[in-house]
Amino acid sequence: MSSLVKREASFGMNIYQLYESTKEPFIGIYLFFRPALLIRDAELARRILTVDFNYFHDRGVHSNERTNPLSGNLFSLPGEKWKNLRTKLTPTFTSGKLKNMFTTLEDVGNAMLEYLRDEIPSGRKTIELRSLTTMYAADVIASTFFGLNINTFKDTNNSFHNLRYKLNQNTFFRTLASSANFLCPKLVDMFHLYLVNKAIVKYMVDLVKDTMEYREQNNVTRKDFMQLLLQLRNTGEVKEDGDWTTGSAKDGRKSLTIEQCAAQAFIFYIAGLETTAATVSFCLYELAQNEDVKNKLLKDINETLEKHNGEFTYDCIQDMKYLDLCILETIRKYPGLPILNRECTKTYQIPHSEYVIEEGTAVVISLMGLHRDPEYFPDPLKFMPERFLDGQRNYNDVAYFPFGEGPRTCIGLRQGKLSAKVALVKILTSFKVDAVEKQEIEFDNFSVGLIPKDGANVVLTRIE
Ligand code: HEM
Repeated sequence: MSSLVKREASFGMNIYQLYESTKEPFIGIYLFFRPALLIRDAELARRILTVDFNYFHDRGVHSNERTNPLSGNLFSLPGEKWKNLRTKLTPTFTSGKLKNMFTTLEDVGNAMLEYLRDEIPSGRKTIELRSLTTMYAADVIASTFFGLNINTFKDTNNSFHNLRYKLNQNTFFRTLASSANFLCPKLVDMFHLYLVNKAIVKYMVDLVKDTMEYREQNNVTRKDFMQLLLQLRNTGEVKEDGDWTTGSAKDGRKSLTIEQCAAQAFIFYIAGLETTAATVSFCLYELAQNEDVKNKLLKDINETLEKHNGEFTYDCIQDMKYLDLCILETIRKYPGLPILNRECTKTYQIPHSEYVIEEGTAVVISLMGLHRDPEYFPDPLKFMPERFLDGQRNYNDVAYFPFGEGPRTCIGLRQGKLSAKVALVKILTSFKVDAVEKQEIEFDNFSVGLIPKDGANVVLTRIE
């Protein structure tokens, strides 16, 4: 991990460099001091995530509820604890529930437009997309998960949005801490490389506790994830679509503690924020670079809106087929999470080979590597949404994992895609998006996700 340690590349990009350094189906690497296997072969990667999941059900990232209560979250928990929680949380993310949240998403999209119209009262202006879309994503998560109406576009300095800076600073310590949490969890407790300090834990726990108590004491029902978490805490299950009642705990016994609820809310913040912001900003950046793709998308948006009598609804957005292809292509070229990782929990014989993966070995899959490998995706740097069109597919779908795969696949994928689509339609119907200059994005040397080094800049011109 030398380029990570020298701070030349983020760890996702460091793993990508290792992927690119060879043509072997898998290679042994060291994650700092921890021996690991980097899988390059797409078939094997898919096997590990799906049919042979029983050998690889854990991520092997840091999770210790005693030293950090927020680490008891769905992303980090191992074994049975993860399995029970995943089963309970899955009904939270149905399309029916998401549909109910559409108006809330649209309100955030409108707040973003209002902000942009103030920034660009007339004519054109260069806008840095990643900061813009992170404000959007923070407000989406605040309103759909926490029931908070924070409006970052009016108050950029609010504590909910600022949390992102505390979690994602470009310092040596944070780079080391985030990589260690992901790749070398034993170092975390040993050297106190905690991603969150006590103040952040308190902030999150208090936020969840106060919101839940307020709702129960005042009989407040909101159609958001916090309501469903409260229902789960009280009744042990998330009810069918349409039932937003909080229910009550039998004998006062709750199925989740406040800390466990806060850990889930926290991971929804972390996992949803940068991934959603990245998807919107990289997509707009590519549209600005590719006039023909942009025009096709505008045609799709306008025609679909017309078909739905100008009403922008959940069903209308689902009907925008080319928009979906643009999202699929964006998260191919720019995977929200550039690596997937698992820990081998039972010694595993690699099929058709003499090699065995020992129990406890870390396994890493470079999404950036697979998604930009010309063997799997011809002309990988070209932004080509048509490659996903049925009948025109020009890629090997075994190698496409933007949301991971198998039982531990992204639980928020529908929410992530929908929020990204709402932001894209809002911006594209109100502004013309043009490139500042023709160039590929370079990535910064910190963070788990892909951060554009000099920002993702485009020129926006008012069209209404
Ligand atoms: C476009 C946006 C998003 C992308 C590209 C994305 C991508 C991913 C990826 C690649 C994984 C790892 C899957 C694996 O290891 O197999 C993941 C896991 C996860 N994501 Fe997302 N994600 C997005 C949005 C969201 C949102 C909005 C949430 C909020 C709930 C979320 C919550 C999670 C959680 C909780 C996990 C861990 C699931 C588990 O271990 O059971 N993600 N995501």
